[in-house]
Amino acid sequence: MNKLTSEQSTYWSELANTYVWKKKWDTLVSGDFYKADIKWFEGAELNITENCLDRHLEKRRQKKALIFEPNDPKEPSSFLTYGELHLSVCRFANLLKSRGINKGDVVCFYMGMTPEFMIGVLACARIGAVHTVVFGGFSPLSLRGRLEDSKAKMIVTHDGAYRGDKNTPLKDMVDECLEGTDLIKTVLVVKRTNQEIKMKEGRDYYYEALIKGVDLHCAPVPVKAEDPLFILYTSGSTGKPKGLLHTAAGYMVHVGKSFMDVFQYKENDIFWCTADIGWITGHSYTTYGPLLNGATTVMYEGIPTYPNASRFWEIIEKHKITHLYTAPTAIRALEKFGNEIPDSFQMTTLKVLGSVGEPINEEAWQWYSKHVGKDRCPIVDTWWQTETGGIMISPQAGLTKTKPGYATLPLPGIVPCLLDEKGKEITDMVAGGNLCIKTPWPSLARTIYGDHERFIQTYFSTYPGYYFTGDGARREADGYYRLTGRVDDVINVSGHRIGTAEVEEAINQHPDVVESAVVGLPHPVKGQGLYAFVIARTNTRNNNDLEKEIRETVNKIIGPIAKPDLIQIVEGLPKTRSGKIMRRVLRKIVENDVENIGDTSTLLNPEIIEKMIQEKKTLDS
Ligand code: WTA
Repeated sequence: MNKLTSEQSTYWSELANTYVWKKKWDTLVSGDFYKADIKWFEGAELNITENCLDRHLEKRRQKKALIFEPNDPKEPSSFLTYGELHLSVCRFANLLKSRGINKGDVVCFYMGMTPEFMIGVLACARIGAVHTVVFGGFSPLSLRGRLEDSKAKMIVTHDGAYRGDKNTPLKDMVDECLEGTDLIKTVLVVKRTNQEIKMKEGRDYYYEALIKGVDLHCAPVPVKAEDPLFILYTSGSTGKPKGLLHTAAGYMVHVGKSFMDVFQYKENDIFWCTADIGWITGHSYTTYGPLLNGATTVMYEGIPTYPNASRFWEIIEKHKITHLYTAPTAIRALEKFGNEIPDSFQMTTLKVLGSVGEPINEEAWQWYSKHVGKDRCPIVDTWWQTETGGIMISPQAGLTKTKPGYATLPLPGIVPCLLDEKGKEITDMVAGGNLCIKTPWPSLARTIYGDHERFIQTYFSTYPGYYFTGDGARREADGYYRLTGRVDDVINVSGHRIGTAEVEEAINQHPDVVESAVVGLPHPVKGQGLYAFVIARTNTRNNNDLEKEIRETVNKIIGPIAKPDLIQIVEGLPKTRSGKIMRRVLRKIVENDVENIGDTSTLLNPEIIEKMIQEKKTLDS
């Protein structure tokens, strides 16, 4: 592994000095990329919420910290000042304590996007408890897996969550998840939809009832630099989801600074990141990044197209938003409704546009720039991952010359490189290869919760001495990076990572399925969709019924986000003589790129391919 240069060390320690610490560190960084035992700021003590809230109170007590825009445009929006957010967090923290939550305990959040969600997450951090947020689009079974893995003691949820014209019955889903278990001691229900729900005596409590009269004072509990801040689950190329563990100090140091570097936030700007707190982007840039910098952050409960496709632009004008940070999938979805809609909005306050989660195709980039940014707002195409905690490669707004499709250059302190298939670092500037990171940075996840071996295997064993991202990239003469997509079996659907293995496992649970293989399908809005090849047990069934049931099975096991877009029932799958499914061949079939399938003569069953191609043609027509 490459050690930090002295400039890097100076950079990170000077940066860390800009934060509030209860106790400064003894050692800046230790450990290596072989054992994957990186530690930052050892010996230090701090509390991230003191940095997000308390330290701003003197100057920004009256400043808006959080603006909340509800799903229904007719419902009034609301806001909390830094003073109010501070008190709300303290109060929620005291409530957690009164329910027996202490430093190190894990609390799970399964909520819709309302202020209590952010307040609750910060309340955990306030007392050194560990938050694990599960996106509301995951099924009760997925939730259960994450609860068991993280050993959470408590769940915070809503009665129901509004998203567009849907109402997700979160509390019913929690009930289903917990049925027949005593996994969880306390379920805290925040009222949102006021729908009828069941409350289990001695386990379920209304937030509104418990919070009454709770003390508004709660000093930030000092935690050690390497104490856990949160666990966040993400799909991998194999097996069950991985709980990436992030620690307090390192996460804070890079997330806070990267927010400033990338977005160039100025004191009265209004920052809107559209990501749900269920994802890393919502952790780092809806919540912690803006608050660490005393910024005003906007939280929106709904979806881009509700009640219609002008909602985003209306929100921008209503709240005088200066920074919009969203995903290519949302941009493409809105683009479909035509230019006239955004063109009828001036959006004069906008200064910076951001993109995250998947490669942004040039066409969407140009549309975003012209029709949303009116050709005067730089686009920051930010590349990073759940594992990296914060943005790694991105333009710095107004400072870096942007180029459509390029995440451009690494942020200060970050050292990416490209490796070839043989594991050799590519020294030529102009090249394509597998994207790795050479030296440690503070906000790197420290482990996969409960499975450090898997952490080493996944990220540090392909290229010993490097952190391997799982992404491919190209580098140009100007040093600019362009991300070309995953090189492993992970599919990026609407910017959400879905492991093919996980979906296949779910499909295979259907009693009539023998085997399945899932590959990415180029999709005009979602970037990629899921295409499932399925071998069914009998040929006598009606395929339409079977397809419907398979979708339902996936919905139940993982959640709606993993439902296959297309299912092709096949007689067999192309396999090597050792029995490995040839995904490369499947991808070519799905992409209708059959000329480039390559040599298949060494396959066990080459004849199956022609058949699959013909059957797909029939399906397509
Ligand atoms: C992809 C989201 C191209 C990439 C922050 C990465 C991107 C995965 C970009 C992480 C980008 C993210 N350009 N691809 N600007 N940003 N990705 O963990 O494949 O949900 O590995 O983190 O999304 O997804 P995750």
